[in-house]
Amino acid sequence: MGSQAEIVCVTGAAGFIGSWLVMRLLERGYTVRATVRDPNNMKKVKHLQDLPNAKTHLSLWRADLNEAGSFDEPIQGCTGVFHVATPMDFESKDPENEVIKPTIEGMLSIMKSCVKAKVRRLVFTSSAGTVNVQPVQRPVHDETSWSDLDFVWATKMTGWMYFVSKTMAERAAWKFAEENNLDFISIIPTLVVGPFLMPSFPPSLITALSPITRNEAHYGIIRQGQFVHLDDLCMSHIFLYEHPEAKGRYICSSHDENITGIAKLLREKYPEYDIPTKFEGVDENTEKVSFSSKKLRDLGFEFKHNLEDMFVGAVECCREKGLLPLSHEKKQKEQVMNGSN
Ligand SMILES: NC(=O)c1ccc[n+]([C@@H]2O[C@H](COP(=O)([O-])OP(=O)(O)OC[C@H]3O[C@@H](n4cnc5c(N)ncnc54)[C@H](OP(=O)(O)O)[C@@H]3O)[C@@H](O)[C@H]2O)c1
Repeated sequence: MGSQAEIVCVTGAAGFIGSWLVMRLLERGYTVRATVRDPNNMKKVKHLQDLPNAKTHLSLWRADLNEAGSFDEPIQGCTGVFHVATPMDFESKDPENEVIKPTIEGMLSIMKSCVKAKVRRLVFTSSAGTVNVQPVQRPVHDETSWSDLDFVWATKMTGWMYFVSKTMAERAAWKFAEENNLDFISIIPTLVVGPFLMPSFPPSLITALSPITRNEAHYGIIRQGQFVHLDDLCMSHIFLYEHPEAKGRYICSSHDENITGIAKLLREKYPEYDIPTKFEGVDENTEKVSFSSKKLRDLGFEFKHNLEDMFVGAVECCREKGLLPLSHEKKQKEQVMNGSN
């Protein structure tokens, strides 16, 4: 299963994960239809057009999760679809209409397009937020765990609308796949970190690099964190797409670490950021919580990257693109000069 001469569609192709996945698919000889909301926005698509093999094997298609049937055209003629797109706005003023509704309805709209086009396999990038958002953390999560949406609605923690949207979308997708006999795989990445192609600051790095940027609202998400390298995640998408025996949900996570451990790693590599040693409300001895990728490893997938690859890769890439100041002191000086705090 999975021939490299195939045509596949990647939704959300300009984003952090989408663009890296497109790069890896092109390298393997796939012909890729990349969906974006605005193919004419050069700022958002140039990094795709510049990829090796893009001229001969990549085409850009306009599609929006808010528009029913929007994915029919790009998916028609494809044998596989990687559904990566999702609204990721944690600050949304209208979470119901801007995040939750498009995620669920867009998922179902894409599944309908897949059925019409007789797509052989649909691979969905789900989220750890469908698994572990619970009042009490289990020491180890596996694919049988689901987030407790009553708890999410009651607590409304940072990112709550994202956790609701992904959980409801994945649950609806499993129902649709069963009823319509669609070959569907969901991949559950934990926090994705690493060097990247997109020109702007990736949403997941807002959380991962929060010890550097002091974005305190995001500390809670990595208090007991789990991580995977962007390249390992994208290679797992291709591995599961191509594997004839892949079935069901797959956690894709290689490392568990608390915020204090991440801060230590970053402090040792980048003393210039003056990274805190203590985080409010975080006990240094907090137990780690693990996401088990046993099911993925048992199928034969091997992770290639460690935590240092992820964090050093991400920081270096942000610095090269001018998205992160070179030191904490410089950042403070800039803030004083701009009159911000
Ligand atoms: N990064 C992580 O740590 C992480 C962890 C677990 C799961 N995930 C999942 O991975 C996927 C990709 O995340 P990412 O980190 O790559 O985020 P990202 O960079 O924000 O990419 C998401 C893409 O979704 C597209 N999108 C947003 N709203 C859309 C809409 N209404 N219609 C069509 N496209 C829309 C955006 O496309 P435009 O270019 O058109 O604006 C954007 O490029 C998501 O499904 C997310 O849930 C990510």
